[in-house]
This record gives sequence, C-alpha cells and structure tokens, in this order.
Amino acid sequence: MRLYCKRIQKDQPMTKPSDICYSHGFNNEHESEALKGALPIGQFNPQKCPYGLYAEQFSSTAFTAPKHENRRTWMYRIRPSISMGDYSPIDKGLLRTAPLNGQPCPPNVMRWDAQPITETPTDFIDGLTTVAANGDANTQIGIGIHLYSANKDMENRYFCNADGELLFVPEKGELTARTELGLLHVKPGEILVIPRGIKFQINPMGEPIRGYLCENYGSPFTLPERGPVGANGFANQRDFCYPTACFEDSEQSSCLVTKFCGELYQAELDHSPLDVVAWVGNSAPYKYDLSRFNVINSVSFDHPDPSIFTVLTSPSDTPGTANMDFVIFPPRWMVAENTFRPPWYHRNVMSEFMGLVHGVYDAKEKGFEPGGMSLHNCMTPHGPEAEVFEKASNTPLSPQKYDNTLAFMFESRYVIAPTEFSLHSTTKQKDYLDCWANLNKHFDGKA
Ligand code: FE2
Repeated sequence: MRLYCKRIQKDQPMTKPSDICYSHGFNNEHESEALKGALPIGQFNPQKCPYGLYAEQFSSTAFTAPKHENRRTWMYRIRPSISMGDYSPIDKGLLRTAPLNGQPCPPNVMRWDAQPITETPTDFIDGLTTVAANGDANTQIGIGIHLYSANKDMENRYFCNADGELLFVPEKGELTARTELGLLHVKPGEILVIPRGIKFQINPMGEPIRGYLCENYGSPFTLPERGPVGANGFANQRDFCYPTACFEDSEQSSCLVTKFCGELYQAELDHSPLDVVAWVGNSAPYKYDLSRFNVINSVSFDHPDPSIFTVLTSPSDTPGTANMDFVIFPPRWMVAENTFRPPWYHRNVMSEFMGLVHGVYDAKEKGFEPGGMSLHNCMTPHGPEAEVFEKASNTPLSPQKYDNTLAFMFESRYVIAPTEFSLHSTTKQKDYLDCWANLNKHFDGKA
C-alpha cells in the first residue's frame, strides 16, 4: 500500500497524535511518499529521481545477509546524508558503552528506586544516563541499558546512534519521535524501536518524559518463533506501526549528534537532516502497543517459563540463546490449579534486568516502583519476596486477573554490569536482600 501523507514542516508541528498516519506489519516492505510520485516505481535508483531528489540506500544488515534477515531501506531525500560538516567530539555526560573496562560486577541482587526527573531544562540527549551494559559495542555483541529523561525539545539538535538499535520503554509522559522516515507518537504502555543509524529527535508532548532505553548492539530485534502455538499469538505482525514519509525542507542550521564507538560527536548542517520525501524498505522505526500482546499462559498447572512473554528478540549466534530478549509481564488471567502462581525461585544462566511501567509486579509487592529497576545476574538466586511466598502458598486458587500491571525484562546471555553511576547512585536500595529475610524454614522431616 502506498500512503500519501501531508508535508509537515518543523515550524508547523502536528497538533495531535491522530494527525499521524502509520503503515502496519512487522518487517514488511513498507513504502510511503509525502509528495505524489516521489517514490520511483519498478526500480530503486533511476538516473534522475522524481522532484530532483537523491536516492540513498540505508542498510542495517550486511548486503549479503540472508533474505529473511536482510533489512534495508531506500530513501529519496532533498540532500544525501553526506551533506554535512566534519564531526567533533563532545561531552558524553553519563552515557557509557560496553565494555565497561575495570568496572566490578558484584553477583549481588540489586534494586534501585526511580531516578527523579530533573527540573533543569534537559533535552533527550543530555538526559541519557547509562545504568548497565554488557558485551562489546564495537563487535556488535550485547546491550547498553539507559534511562532517559527530558523536559524540553531537542530544537535544532538531531541524534543518530551508530552503536546500536534503540528500544524505548516509556514510563512517564508522551513523546513525539521525529525520524527520517516520519513521525511517531508514543506513550507509556507502548514501545518504540529505532534502527541503528536512523536520525531522529525525541520531544516531550507537554509533560516531562522518563523511561528505559535498551541499546541493542547485536542483531536487529525480530519476533520470536511461535513453535507449536501456531500462526498467531504473542506479538502479532499486524500490530506493529511504521511511520509514513514527512519531511522538513528547512535551511536553518542544525546539528547532528552521533554516538559512535561509545563517544558522542557533533556535526553542523545547513539544513534539517529529516528531509526524506519518500522511502521504501523494511528497516524503519516502529512502535507497538503492549496491550495488544496476546498472552498465552497455563490453563492446567505449573508456572511456565517467562519466555512465553517474549515480545521481541535479538538472536545471538547460538540458537535459542538471545543477545537480548524483551519480555513483558502484562495483565493476564491466572487459572493454574495446584500451582505456586508467582515466578518460582530460580537461578538462571541468563542475566535479567527488570523495570516497571505501572502497577505492581506479582513477585514483589513492595519496593519495586514504576521507574525503578532490578538486576539479577547470571546464576544469582532470586524469586518472590517472603510475604508473597506465604500468601501464594496459602491462598485459595480461584481464577484471578492480574490487572493494572506492566513489568518488563531485558534478558541477555551476557552478564549485565552496572555502571559506576548506578553502583553509587543514591537510588540504589541498601536493604533489597531484606525482602527475603523472613523466608522461614517449613521443613520438619514429616511428610
Ligand atoms: Fe528471574
């Protein structure tokens, strides 16, 4: 389907989210043009493009990646991306990138309260704070985990991340993502993914914004296999929303901030880099409403592995062992009989970083607040707090709806190391271990 979208100038911002139109379908070959006839038909790079546009291929996988994994988009733009000044390094603030050389990674369970939103005017770039990381960005393995927080627009600044794909999990406030390929409106309860290398702005819509940001150094996120579940269920392809073309034909000066090999660089432009008039391809930003996740759960007995709640996965070279899985714990019915329904006690080769968008997480009724986070690394034991264990072991097992809750997990095969900032943050809880202190001995040797 070819979509015609009205031209939206920087000085004529859209006024409401319903002004934005989307194209649907995960990893589809989407196509869109903001001016009729701007998209070449039947070929990608004609001798002269319509409207005098430049053709530019954007590849987020190798040219030779297998067809089902290949991601690329053809952009038809006012100026090619190389129309820019040289980069100069700038201060990276609290942004960090793996490997975190020399940083100790204790095996303790760790948990943090939410970071307060600053009252100092802060845009998306300046508000980025890295809390953990693993792998090595330069070898395209692992992830960075950041918190974002902003209370002002990026104005004439644009951002681009060469180190990884970005997965936003908003927790507070609605935002507009102005990207090369179009606009997206995103609010808590939804996620946003921006491919490695796409230029964009993140601007609050009124209220300050806060949330979690996973920087995926590895292979792009895809949908997990469904196996015997069949052709439908979990996150369905049709519910993923892609932007449609809109462009800024502006000759005001701007600057592009790029994250590259863990450092920030800035380059001056004499125009807006969001000047793509038409595009076709499958490498593009997308958003997804997590309430559309079709939850599949036990209807007989036993608590299934949390992998059944996987929304997106970044595979590693080892089948079934992800560079990063994005897993949610959404509202759902619990009906399993003769079953301890909260997550069981366990130790896992995978490392688990958790956050909470809203409500209460079923394994931790106290101390895990929206905007907070916890870290349970490889082989670190964890499970329900003592009070949850007692309650879940004795409560009558009638069908129960877990409602008004949305926790999530970034789960990785690589140990997730906290940054110096998070190890020494005043929000780090000193008493997290105490929630298991009252796990009483019930064993008395009698059957
Ligand atoms: Fe766990």
